[in-house]
Amino acid sequence: MSVSVALLFLELFTLVTMINISFCIANSNVACIDSERQALLKLKQDLNDPSNRLASWNIGDGDCCAWDGVVCNNFTGHVLQLNLGNPDPNYGTVSKLVGKINPSLVDLTHLIHLDLSGNDFHGIQIPKYLGSLKNLRYLNLSRAKFAGVIPYQLGNLSNLQYLDLSENYESQVESFSWLSGLSLLEHLDLSDADLSKATDWLLVTNSLSSLKVLKLSYCELHHFPPSSSANFSSLKTLDLSKNQFNNSLFQFSSWVFGLHNLVFFDLSGNQFQGKIPNGLGNLTFLRHLDLSYNEFNSAIPGWLSKLNDIEFLSLQHNSLLGTISSMGLENLTSIKTLDLSLNYDLAGKIPTSFVRLFTSFEELSIFRSLDKSTWAI
Ligand SMILES: *[C@@H]1O[C@H](CO)[C@@H](O)[C@H](O)[C@H]1NC(C)=O
Ligand SMILES: *[C@@H]1O[C@H](CO)[C@@H](O)[C@H](O)[C@H]1NC(C)=O
Ligand SMILES: *[C@@H]1O[C@H](CO)[C@@H](O)[C@H](O)[C@H]1NC(C)=O
Ligand SMILES: *[C@@H]1O[C@H](CO)[C@@H](O)[C@H](O)[C@H]1NC(C)=O
Ligand SMILES: *[C@@H]1O[C@H](CO)[C@@H](O)[C@H](O)[C@H]1NC(C)=O
Ligand SMILES: *[C@@H]1O[C@H](CO)[C@@H](O)[C@H](O)[C@H]1NC(C)=O
Ligand SMILES: *[C@@H]1O[C@H](CO)[C@@H](O)[C@H](O)[C@H]1NC(C)=O
Ligand SMILES: *[C@@H]1O[C@H](CO)[C@@H](O)[C@H](O)[C@H]1NC(C)=O
Repeated sequence: MSVSVALLFLELFTLVTMINISFCIANSNVACIDSERQALLKLKQDLNDPSNRLASWNIGDGDCCAWDGVVCNNFTGHVLQLNLGNPDPNYGTVSKLVGKINPSLVDLTHLIHLDLSGNDFHGIQIPKYLGSLKNLRYLNLSRAKFAGVIPYQLGNLSNLQYLDLSENYESQVESFSWLSGLSLLEHLDLSDADLSKATDWLLVTNSLSSLKVLKLSYCELHHFPPSSSANFSSLKTLDLSKNQFNNSLFQFSSWVFGLHNLVFFDLSGNQFQGKIPNGLGNLTFLRHLDLSYNEFNSAIPGWLSKLNDIEFLSLQHNSLLGTISSMGLENLTSIKTLDLSLNYDLAGKIPTSFVRLFTSFEELSIFRSLDKSTWAI
């Protein structure tokens, strides 16, 4: 091989390498869009930030894609995600962002993920203009001191898959009709909002066929709707705890028992009375069943022993009758937590075979919750 041919190869190699390198640089260095940087700066201006979480958001620093909490599209430079949730799991005051949400937020037209959870927006209403962020797939405004009526304009967010508005204790929903536009919704959490006027809650959620998680805990619901069947059969988690349901289990039975894929079911803290409905025995995938703090006053149903996957079962604080031994405890091979305490008319001993089961799973701690004054083990 002559020297010149070798040089040519060397040059070609260098060229290819350089092209590769320059591609890499181009990929990671798309600077953010100027109008979106301006929008972010306005957002920052209206927020009090005692722990300096937004310290990297500087007028002098051109590339807002590198700012904390901001994720851009690597090719277009558009802001895709704004992760401004309070990083302190205890929602510490110091790490809160406090203040207003500047309406320039809507200039981030490509936003798909918005998390403002755990901050303090001083009891304002959730801004109606959030309904124009049409690309949003994830919206988390949990525990951020929003108050008042949740605006129906959020029903314009037809790409939404996750909507978490929980723990805004002064908020309310008067009708669920706007939610019917959110056909891709998989996760809906409106816990702690006042839904006492929203009598259409089941009618509407039932039409959301993608729904997997529905959490309406502590919502002042008192009407357990007498719908005959449930369309949201993909539902895996249903939390209706701490409401005021009290009507007859006949109505309650009609649709709940069709939720065959349910894994997590919490009905604790209501006012259900009478017999624990047999239809619950059809929900054979259940891993977590919480019926505590109700007024069930039947014997413990034998079908509980058919729930092969059950890991958590609480019947605490009801008025259950009869004996524990009728329960078929030894067949609950997956159980990790069992709470039968505060049922003062319940008698009998935990079978030693069951105790042995627990010992082998190293989960004896559950017995701490049992009321030892009532039962010897
Ligand atoms: C170019 O980049 C690709 C992917 O990163 C890599 O597989 C390839 O080996 C690189 N080519 C050269 C010549 O460095
Ligand atoms: C952008 O690129 C970075 C690093 O090259 C990568 O970690 C990140 O996942 C990419 N982001 C998107 C939205 O593709
Ligand atoms: C919601 O959509 C309707 C019609 O599609 C439109 O008239 C309205 O302005 C939108 N609202 C918001 C807040 O984007
Ligand atoms: C919303 O944020 C809270 C607090 O950061 C978190 O616990 C919750 O899981 C989030 N919700 C969703 C649907 O991701
Ligand atoms: C249930 O789903 C079917 C088919 O998807 C639909 O025609 C029907 O209207 C739905 N019913 C309710 C109550 O949403
Ligand atoms: C059920 O609750 C409603 C509304 O909270 C109340 O008016 C009614 O008296 C209650 N019924 C029973 C049987 O407790
Ligand atoms: C429970 O399942 C059985 C058998 O699959 C069925 O006959 C019964 O109607 C179901 N009960 C309810 C309340 O859905
Ligand atoms: C426990 O399971 C066995 C085998 O599946 C069955 O024969 C027995 O009847 C069950 N016991 C109770 C109390 O359900």
